[in-house]
Amino acid sequence: MAKITASVYTSHVPAIGVAIDQKKTQEDYWKPVFAGYDCSKQWLQENPPDVIFLVYNDHATAFSLDLIPTFAIGTGAQFRPADEGWGPRPVPVVKGHPELAAHIAQSVIQQDFDLTLVNKMEVDHGLTVPLSLLCGERDPLQGAWPCPVIPFAVNVVQYPAPSGRRCFALGQAIRKAVESYDEHLNVHIWGTGGMSHQLQGARAGLINREWDKAWLDQMIADPAACAARPHIDYVREAGSEGIELVMWLIARGAMPDIVDGKVQGPAPVVKHRFYHVPASNTAVGHLILEPA
Ligand code: DHB
Ligand code: FE
Repeated sequence: MAKITASVYTSHVPAIGVAIDQKKTQEDYWKPVFAGYDCSKQWLQENPPDVIFLVYNDHATAFSLDLIPTFAIGTGAQFRPADEGWGPRPVPVVKGHPELAAHIAQSVIQQDFDLTLVNKMEVDHGLTVPLSLLCGERDPLQGAWPCPVIPFAVNVVQYPAPSGRRCFALGQAIRKAVESYDEHLNVHIWGTGGMSHQLQGARAGLINREWDKAWLDQMIADPAACAARPHIDYVREAGSEGIELVMWLIARGAMPDIVDGKVQGPAPVVKHRFYHVPASNTAVGHLILEPA
């Protein structure tokens, strides 16, 4: 049986990828951001997954306003880093896990979540920046990511985005799917994006530290209540792009203390928690949770 052995949460920001690729991580501005991931890199080496199920959002890169799937699972064998305007990031091609992805698609769709199957797509900073933060610099040609990655894209760019409640329920379905896979695989689920940020309009640059910290506390300890928060809370308190945080609830819903939508077991162990403002326009949040 495959098993989810940890959930990892982190913000993404394109400028973080640029700082890594241009070797600026030790500059004064960036140093404290990357310092928050030093022990996470160590942790990932000591707790290596066989597969990472990586929940992220595409930013009109693979999908455009022409076609907007709410939930899309990458079932392909590989996913190339996309050109977001400055050439593709110099990072390795992401290898998928088509067998596990197909199994999860089968199981989750039969649990009544209508996923879009994606056999071919390129992945943007939403996926490659979290990988870089936890895996460090990797040579694009000689190097590789530590394990196969199943990309799982969520629409949080164009309204209507899915509710936190829907994302939380989906996480539970994903755990059931993983646990019904025959092969022994150690799977990590990552929830990415957020925290507070707004890139557009009159409130561009908005950051809300108090709200972010309270949201993290609630997401860890009372995820069902966190999942019940309406979209308007995110937009009002965490800015228009703060809605990316609903993706964290997919990873949280996949933790084993959640049964039938409620906390029914001991809370997960917080292996690491980090918060830093700012990275570009974004409040960076990062968590590692392991089942108790
Ligand atoms: C920034 C943050 C994002 O989430 C994103 O997708 C693009 C830019 C930023 O802070 O610059
Ligand atoms: Fe984003």
